Amino acid sequence: MILATGQRGPGPSSPAAAGPTASAAGPDHGPGPATKVSIRNLTVHYGTFCAVRNVTLDIPANQVTAIIGPSGCGKSTVVRSLNRMTDLVPGARVSGEAIVDGQNILSPEVDVVDVRRRIGMVFQRPNPFPKSIYDNVAYGPRLHGVRGRALDEVVERALRGAALWDEVKDKLRQSALALSGGQQQRLCIARAMAVEPEVILMDEPASAIDPIGTLRIEELISHLRANYTIVIVTHNMQQASRVSDLTAFFTMGEDRAGYLVEFGPTVEIFTNPRNQLTEDYVSGRFG
Ligand SMILES: Nc1ncnc2c1ncn2[C@@H]1O[C@H](COP(=O)(O)OP(=O)(O)OP(=O)(O)O)[C@@H](O)[C@H]1O
Ligand SMILES: [Mg+2]
Repeated sequence: MILATGQRGPGPSSPAAAGPTASAAGPDHGPGPATKVSIRNLTVHYGTFCAVRNVTLDIPANQVTAIIGPSGCGKSTVVRSLNRMTDLVPGARVSGEAIVDGQNILSPEVDVVDVRRRIGMVFQRPNPFPKSIYDNVAYGPRLHGVRGRALDEVVERALRGAALWDEVKDKLRQSALALSGGQQQRLCIARAMAVEPEVILMDEPASAIDPIGTLRIEELISHLRANYTIVIVTHNMQQASRVSDLTAFFTMGEDRAGYLVEFGPTVEIFTNPRNQLTEDYVSGRFG
């Protein structure tokens, strides 16, 4: 079932009260919300080049986790591997684990179609299909056999959930390509939501959108955490501090392999980081 954004799914009663994960906070903070995706020693190679090395990170359920860091440090590589997009890159090799509800979704045995349904992805450039607004959102549910009135309901719920319904309800049969960039991106979020994912990965979802469209997407992300686990890659530090509960800072070593430097509550990463590299990056001295 897709929950409307106003409804609360399982998870912490309030993001502010939720606190960080144990691994993000250290031993003195006590337990936090449940881990949704437990990344263990994730290493990704493109051919012989190591793009990301040994990332271990617990992404908590019903929270927004931001991934920040300089260009090329492997942010997109990490989120793409969680969605098994790296399977499509010739020469890419992924090792390590990403455990979701007890299952390693990086294992060759798992059903990739099922992984992509459970872990949706929204890209930097809005990429609606050259179809109607309705058909874009209906695409995934149709593949899973949903038809008729039930399909109408799924489409409406997803468009409402993505804060787009009021703008498009009278033109569902018109081409999605006629929407503004910000509307197209909310449509892509609706399309991701329509197959009832548990996790939504967003790779710089607002970087190609104007400031007002960006604000709407940020508001939407804040609402989505009630029902989904969100991971957002962003270059915009203000955006990370506005929308996320937790922030993971990545950088590159001398061999240009990306690695995780520090992970913790966003407010701590931005105001009181433990690592000098984080401090230099968030204060604008590097990157
Ligand atoms: N398909 C690919 N084939 C070969 N190398 C790749 C491929 N995709 C990414 N890389 C390399 O892997 C490294 C990490 O790239 P990635 O796109 O994950 O970085 P990023 O942190 O998302 O950067 P940006 O902030 O610029 O989007 C880079 O050195 C990049 O050139
Ligand atoms: Mg990227």
